[in-house]
Amino acid sequence: MSSPSDVWSASDYAPTAARLRPISELVAAELARRLPTPATVVDIGSGHGDGVTALVTEGYTVTAIEPTARIRAIGQCNAPNATWIDALGEATGLEDSSVDAVTSTFGSMFCNPTTGPAEWARILRPGGELVMTAWNQEGFLATMTDAMMESVNPGGSKQTPPHMAWGITEVAHERLSQWFESIHIENRELEWTFDSVEDGMQLYREGSPTHVWMADHAGSRREALWAALRDHLKAHADTSGRIESTTGYVLITARRR
Ligand SMILES: C[S@@+](CC[C@H](N)C(=O)[O-])C[C@H]1O[C@@H](n2cnc3c(N)ncnc32)[C@H](O)[C@@H]1O
Repeated sequence: MSSPSDVWSASDYAPTAARLRPISELVAAELARRLPTPATVVDIGSGHGDGVTALVTEGYTVTAIEPTARIRAIGQCNAPNATWIDALGEATGLEDSSVDAVTSTFGSMFCNPTTGPAEWARILRPGGELVMTAWNQEGFLATMTDAMMESVNPGGSKQTPPHMAWGITEVAHERLSQWFESIHIENRELEWTFDSVEDGMQLYREGSPTHVWMADHAGSRREALWAALRDHLKAHADTSGRIESTTGYVLITARRR
């Protein structure tokens, strides 16, 4: 089975990180509304460090969890004022009840949905805060993922993969309620635009590791996969060829019991 590190090493990540930066900053600002500094924060799936930088700027002491060496090396350069750890968010190796908050911008959603929340609860002190985002079932990325799955496995299972199920309110509640209270799940939108279909293709072919990995493992369906993506982009283009879309996500906040 492939590890997260295999998947997330498949291409450059910078173009995707740039798109997610506003949400990294929003997560840090949301935490700042809930938890005064000084305080300790563990950020899961820290990527190139945009969220870590925003948290450090807010005044937090940050431990960044990032299992992908290629990504972590850049994150460490971009956000050197944090402690970076090579670990999974399901097994951080940190002490019980040792941190004031756990944050994640589209990183913790990739943890095992059972052992992930159990680990975050283990390392958080009672009353500690969880602030995380995950994609929901609305908008550009959700329908694009459906189209791509159908292209590689025509007529296959339509079951929502575990990482995408965080966007289903009842599922997110169920995953967290054993350990967390005051669970709040808010659906939001992120602008998702491209200058052209080719601009979109370039992002997914060169700047989005999960899509490159999927294509690299699609075997004879590889070209069908890229064609499905191109069709999806074309369907969202206006008469000038520009794509002005939005993609949905959930902002999840909760407090450790
Ligand atoms: C979509 S990126 C988000 C990165 C960063 N937070 C951002 O907003 O740009 C997902 C990140 O989660 C990491 N990741 C994947 N599975 C993980 C896991 N089980 N535990 C911790 N991090 C994981 C990947 O290596 C990748 O850097």
